[in-house]
Amino acid sequence: MFEDEYEDDRLVMSTKSEFDAEENVLRPKVMDDYIGQSAVKENLKVYIKAAKERGEALDHVLLYGPPGLGKTTLAHIIANELDSQIKMTSGPAIERSGDLAAILTNLNEGDVLFIDEIHRLNHNVEEILYSAMEDYALDIIVGKGPSARNIRFSLKHFTLVGATTKAGNLSSPLRDRFGIICRLDLYSSSELKQIVSRSARTLGISIDEDAAIEIAGRSRGTPRIANRFLKRVRDFTTVKGEGVVCLEDAKYALKRMDVDELGLDGTDRAILRAMIEKFGGGPVGLDTIAATVNEDVRTIEDAYEPYLLQIGFIARTPRGRICLKAGYEHLGIPLTDKRKKQLSGYEE
Ligand SMILES: Nc1ncnc2c1ncn2[C@@H]1O[C@H](COP(=O)(O)OP(=O)(O)O)[C@@H](O)[C@H]1O
Ligand SMILES: [Mg+2]
Repeated sequence: MFEDEYEDDRLVMSTKSEFDAEENVLRPKVMDDYIGQSAVKENLKVYIKAAKERGEALDHVLLYGPPGLGKTTLAHIIANELDSQIKMTSGPAIERSGDLAAILTNLNEGDVLFIDEIHRLNHNVEEILYSAMEDYALDIIVGKGPSARNIRFSLKHFTLVGATTKAGNLSSPLRDRFGIICRLDLYSSSELKQIVSRSARTLGISIDEDAAIEIAGRSRGTPRIANRFLKRVRDFTTVKGEGVVCLEDAKYALKRMDVDELGLDGTDRAILRAMIEKFGGGPVGLDTIAATVNEDVRTIEDAYEPYLLQIGFIARTPRGRICLKAGYEHLGIPLTDKRKKQLSGYEE
């Protein structure tokens, strides 16, 4: 149901896949090693310091943003900076309200409870959280019918850290109970370059600066992708029989992975192509796009759309998504004059 985090045991924990283990190795442990997201970081530092000075539990924290931006990492850092233990679970893992009640009653004073994908809690479970978050209390109904009564247990003062890809996915009673709400944004290329260099050092990979820049520039604003590219690029260097990852290796490996200069992969290009060729550039709904390119709507919304929006290839309109001029240009598809004019209102 939940896993205690034992720093040194992580690598051998059988419940974690190898992938998770590697990801954990690359996770910065303290706020100062967490690159980027400076506004979020600076604010959290103040809240954490204040809570510690007052000897209180930190207010509940909601972290939201696309996958791979560092929500889980930040949850660990928060616990670490609070000198607290972290208990981890996730929305879909908690099936019954009794499961959550058991987790809550086992928390110690000041513990951090991390609930990943918190928008996927089912309603009955979620309701247990309301009084737990607000009053550190657990309301349980004992018995049935006229003899049913409500028993209230008090809980230790804990901090809930919830993570979700979109704050809008949360019900408002739940969202309102978070005192601290942090949005994580896509990272800049220079921040990603720092992350690639740091990960290379951690994994003992020697990499030329220009190769690190190349990987960073193609990682679509996402540290998880940057780390994955770094490891795959290194494979190509290793197979070549060399020890230092150079620019040429990075370019070659990324091309082999079908990642273009902007970091777009086959699915990104399929999305743009479908929008242009099948729907005249839009507006077209996300569901329709998803069905056309044979992808899950959520995957498109969480993993593909944010970057395409950020680089100005697509835009959201009340009637659906439209492809912008830069998107046409990237695919080398000419725009009609009429379309150019229609789009001029959306370009910055
Ligand atoms: N700010 C950051 N600085 C350095 N590495 C980061 C940062 N954010 C994320 N990472 C790396 O990216 C990977 C994915 O981060 P994670 O916290 O699992 O993302 P999320 O939970 O938002 O999906 C981790 O291996 C972590 O090392
Ligand atoms: Mg996560």
